[in-house]
Amino acid sequence: QAGELGQQTGHAVYVVGGFVRDLLLKHPNFDVDLVVEGDGVAYAAELARIYGGRYKSHPKFKTAVVILPDGQRVDVATARLEYYEYPAALPTVELSSIKMDLYRRDFTVNALALHLSPERFGDLVDFFGAQRDIKDRVLRVLHSLSFVEDPTRIVRAIRFSERFGFRIGGQTDRLIKNAVRHSFFHKLSGSRVMHELRLIFEEKTPLSCLRRMQDYKLLAAIHPLLALTPSKEAVLLEVENVINWYRLLYIEPQPLVWMLYFLGLCTGLDPEQFAIIARRLNFSKRQAAEMAALRQQIRDTAQGIFNWEYHKGPPSELYFLLEPMPLEGALYLMARNPREPLQKYVSLHLTTLRHKRVEVTGNDLKALGVEAGPRYADILRRVVGAAIDGLAVCRAEQLE
Ligand code: CTP
Repeated sequence: QAGELGQQTGHAVYVVGGFVRDLLLKHPNFDVDLVVEGDGVAYAAELARIYGGRYKSHPKFKTAVVILPDGQRVDVATARLEYYEYPAALPTVELSSIKMDLYRRDFTVNALALHLSPERFGDLVDFFGAQRDIKDRVLRVLHSLSFVEDPTRIVRAIRFSERFGFRIGGQTDRLIKNAVRHSFFHKLSGSRVMHELRLIFEEKTPLSCLRRMQDYKLLAAIHPLLALTPSKEAVLLEVENVINWYRLLYIEPQPLVWMLYFLGLCTGLDPEQFAIIARRLNFSKRQAAEMAALRQQIRDTAQGIFNWEYHKGPPSELYFLLEPMPLEGALYLMARNPREPLQKYVSLHLTTLRHKRVEVTGNDLKALGVEAGPRYADILRRVVGAAIDGLAVCRAEQLE
């Protein structure tokens, strides 16, 4: 129907990029990117109208996003007919606009399109040998200036090659090394680097991606303090283990996985060094302060747990030490202290202690005639503590 609509409006419509790649690779992918040879924004408006969805356009880029009633998002871009100027006196060549659109992309496997127009529906458009590359399981750039145009593609190359088990082609590999040698990465803004790092952290195998970034000296190119060291690798490996362990518990909510890996990548940095990294990655003042505070909280809590163990405190004390800690901080504590009792204590908290519920509420205290005020919080806290320590506290006088 999307293609028929294109026909009615006189436009050829294609689905492009990751969706087509993943279709050939039989990987699930629900991100639909359409390219319209014509006015993409007008097309998106019509698509939204017909399906009863909403749309938002960016006229400057001639793109739009359509949100269909079932929540499905469709990105629509415009492929403009452009004139490709060859250097010197060669004539100006008019290339089909879809070809130009695909040529601007990063890798051959991402430069595939599927016709949606009714008369050619389902025809694969492959100008750059993507099907052969998919068969050979190889990732190749489309032209030798690809990494000059956009150095983040180096990280994307590693991410895709790890995700699909593709090797990076010989020429592409040389271009990456050349880009790193010429410090293309130094010029990249912190926010773009952080965006790419987050995508890496959200892959299935972030540690192998990081190792490959290290092999290309990319982490040090972002900042020397980010380079992997054996102790950092050990922590990152434990981060992976802890995340997998927690996933299998099926407890909601799940942690922000990227944050755990990021904490792992910053293992061993002192607060000044961390501030340098936060600046390099363009963290806002607030983000930097929050992350620094979390790192401090993790250190303090670890110390608190060691003290608690030393003086053999009751379980409730462990609960109150860990209760204010964000889930990511608690899991990171486990990853940072493998094979130590601390890991066991934090897991006890996450799996058991923090799920303890007590029946008593502020209203009960009111009914018992306890005067409202800050005492409420204290009493309720003691009820929780007592419940965790296994005491049956139910009488008002015991609360006094
Ligand atoms: N693209 C590019 N250069 C970049 C980023 C993106 O050429 N630095 C192109 C790619 O061709 C890609 C398309 O833009 O297919 C859409 O980008 P994105 O959504 O990031 O790519 P996907 O392939 O869908 O990635 P993922 O599977 O991780 O969502």
